[in-house]
This record gives sequence, C-alpha cells and structure tokens, in this order.
Amino acid sequence: MKEKLIVFDTTLRDGEQSPGASMNREEKVRIAKALERLRVDVIEAGFPAASPGDFEAVQAVSQAITESQVCALARALDSDIDRAGEALRGAKRPRIHTFIATSPIHMERKLRLTPDQVVERAVAAVKRARRYTDDVEFSPEDAGRSEEDFLCRIIEAVIAAGATTINIPDTVGYSLPLEFGALIRRLRERIPNADKAIFSVHCHNDLGLAVANSLAAVLNGARQVECTINGLGERAGNAALEEIVMAVKTRQDMFPCDTDINTREIVPCSKLVSSITGFPVQPNKAIVGANAFAHESGIHQDGVLKHRETYEIMRAEDVGWVANRMVLGKHSGRNAFRTRMRELGIEFESEEALNEAFARFKELADKKHEIFDEDLQALISEQTYEAAAERVKLIALHVCADTGETPCAQVVLKVDGEEKRGQAQGSGVVDASLKAIETLLNTGSNLLLYSVNSITTGTDAQGEVTVRLEKSGRIVNGQGADTDIVIASAKAYLNAVNKLLSPTSRRHPQAADV
Ligand code: KIV
Ligand code: ZN
Repeated sequence: MKEKLIVFDTTLRDGEQSPGASMNREEKVRIAKALERLRVDVIEAGFPAASPGDFEAVQAVSQAITESQVCALARALDSDIDRAGEALRGAKRPRIHTFIATSPIHMERKLRLTPDQVVERAVAAVKRARRYTDDVEFSPEDAGRSEEDFLCRIIEAVIAAGATTINIPDTVGYSLPLEFGALIRRLRERIPNADKAIFSVHCHNDLGLAVANSLAAVLNGARQVECTINGLGERAGNAALEEIVMAVKTRQDMFPCDTDINTREIVPCSKLVSSITGFPVQPNKAIVGANAFAHESGIHQDGVLKHRETYEIMRAEDVGWVANRMVLGKHSGRNAFRTRMRELGIEFESEEALNEAFARFKELADKKHEIFDEDLQALISEQTYEAAAERVKLIALHVCADTGETPCAQVVLKVDGEEKRGQAQGSGVVDASLKAIETLLNTGSNLLLYSVNSITTGTDAQGEVTVRLEKSGRIVNGQGADTDIVIASAKAYLNAVNKLLSPTSRRHPQAADV
C-alpha cells in the first residue's frame, strides 16, 4: 500500500495574491467546487482577517464544501485566529493555518521581534487555534532562509502546543531541490516529536524550481504539498498542482506515495481558474497548456501514430483533455440547461437567476449554433461580471472600419443611472472603442494588459477578453466574453473600471505588519 500524499490547494489564497487575480465570493465558491470535484484534500479558502470580503468568501466556501477540508490563514495574532475560527464555523472539517516568519532578516527587519518572542507568539497562536479545531497547521515563514537550529526549536515547540501539520515554506523561492529535500529530511530526523505531525511544503517559483523543490521534499518524507492550479500565486507563482500530481502519478516507480486526485478534472479546473482570474495559460505549459499533447514534428507524429508511448508519457484524456463536445444547442430546453450546469458544479440560487442565465444562453445559441461547456462557464462568468458592474453599464456600441479609413467608435454608457454618449477614433476598432469609453469616464488608469482568448474553436467562437488596469498602485482585472470581440473588449474594460470604482480593497497577508 502506498502512503497518501495530501494535496493542499491554495489557489484561493496564495493564488489570489497574483496582482490582478482577485476573485469575488461567488467565483471563489465556483472554484472551490471544482477543486472538490478534483478531490483536493484541503482547500485554503482565504485570509479572513485581511478584509470583510475575504472573511465572507471563507464563510461561503465553508458552507458550500462537504468533502474537502476547508482551511483559513491567520497570522500568529489572537485577532486573526479568532477571525479564522469564526469564518470556518460552518465547515465540516475546518483547519486553521497560522504562520510567523523565522528567518533572521524577517524577524529583525519586518517583525522586530527576538527569536524567543517569535517562539512565544507561535506557541500561543497554535494553542488559540486549537480552541476552534483540532486540525492546526503552522508555517515558519521564509523557512528556506531560516537557521536550521531555530527551525528545529520552534517546530518542536508548536508540535508540543498542538500543531498537527508543519508546513515548510520556501517563501521567496530561493532553495534548490537537493538542499530543500535534505532540509526536510534533517528536520524530520532532528525534531524529537516530528512523528506527531505531517510535514508539508509550500514552494514559490522565483527560480522556476517550485515543483522540483516540492518533489524533492516528497522524496524526503513530506506528505503534504501546497500548490495552486496553473501555478498561480504571489510573484512568479506557487508550485503547480497539475505538475506535482502528474509527476507523482507518472513516476510511481520513484515515489512511495500517491494522491487521491481525480486527474480527469485537471484541465476543466485549469480552464475555469484561467477564465475567472483572467490569467491565460501559456500554450507550452506542462499538462494544461494547449500544446502539451500536440506533436508537430513529422518524426514524432509518425511515432505516436505507430505506437503512442514512443513520444507520450501521459494520456491527454487522463488529465481531462477532450475534443470540444457540443453539449447544448438552440433547441435545448431549460431542464437540459439546468442539468448540464449542475454537472459543471453551477447551481442557481433562485428560479430568477436560472431564468436570467437561460435567456442569455438562448441569446448566445442564436449567434452560435453549438454551445460547449466552456461557453456555459463563460456565460456564468459574464453574469457575475455584470452583477459586479454597478456604476457603469454598456448600452450600445457602434464601430466603423472601412479599408483606408481611420477606425472609429460611438458608445452609449449608463453612468450612475445617467445615459452618456461618446465617440473616438483609434488605430483599430478595439482601440477606438476603449478610447470612446475613456472620453466619458476619464478614469486616469493605465492599461497594463489586453488579451483575447478564443473560448472554443471556430470563427463563431466567443472571444474572452482580459483587461488589466492600474490606478494609484491598485491593479484590477476585467473580463468580458462575446462572439464579437469588440463588444467583449468593451465589456472587459468596463468590468475593470467598475472594479476600480468599487471602494472595497484588499490587504495583502504577507505585506501586513505583524
Ligand atoms: O509563502 C509563504 O510563506 C506563505 C505562507 C503564509 C505559508 O504563503
Ligand atoms: Zn506563499
């Protein structure tokens, strides 16, 4: 019997710390349900003390999830731990994850605490967390740059105080695989009560080594890996869940453990996260990139046709790649629509919400004859974007693009209930449309990113546009989908503008003063 490798997903917490990747409560619940279908063991849903929005999202995920464990992050502070405990109240199997930095640079320069004070705070935090749940995880932040003797001391103390999982983060992505694996082995050997806790790792990808470091740790006794879908996360991201899971599965000859992940859900989950966050997956990304299983060279194609394993170490269908399948069409009824949505993990809160989504589906089916799962996901995202779009709405857009003429756009917006009209010229119709919007709104924001992705194949496919705007250090992503990419672009731009106009802002966990 193989040992179990626990998969702890932090897409909703560390993943959300990617600039511009913030998700609202409904989006977090949708991703949490997809993670549950993937059979992730632990879902880190957020950092409740960071903002009321984070608190509510953790609460909502706790209520929606029944199979996976739900975890909340808390600094080693009474107030954070109490917030985490409250947010997790509805969870079936709650976990509190508390952390404090242990590297000399973080203790001296950031915390301004002595090592003794840090140990005291860590022990107190774990004890307080145990009042809410008997499943408590402790992380010595920046462990990769901490002194080993100090790590041994603090870990022994928190295990004695009741921590059941010890997570070793390589917070700044500094470690190398041999070194990190050896560190995990020595910690397990040196700490007298190490057998009372599960050792976990949490690796960042600053040197592109997050997955390699995580796997080295697993080979040296770690039995939990913290990771994110598509490797999303702070700066260069976290270890990618799909890569860790498939490496362990494909190389069972090397690993003494295995995960319970339902690998066929990997690609659908990756697409959902990408569409909600607006972070496209690079085509050559392992496992989930569009080219991950595409063979271009003649020699490779010939080999694969003769005997698949000549060039393929995994099967595309095992990770959830399927040819676009028409699931619904113009003549599909309300029941078929509701059933397929349910299969995709989307439940409607009311008959009214179902009717609204169904009306949008019919509108789309008029423009596009074959509706795929990806279209349905985008349709729901679209409904969520519009729900968020409170202050500015798109009423109409007209563009002109004649050969040899300067492209132009006329736009009608409703701004705080008042209809406004604007027009502009641009280097193309998208440029003209966004400029026409700006003539009315004067947001003063900087456009950091504009990208278009085709949701499915074919020229009638919906284009999904992501726009990233920056203003006064605040970065937001906006998305919009439509069979017409000019309209999708205007929708995405307005979605981002509405986020900029919304007063809610988030604090960043590791940037916060402890
Ligand atoms: O990278 C890190 O150190 C973290 C901790 C909160 C575990 O995200
Ligand atoms: Zn992290």
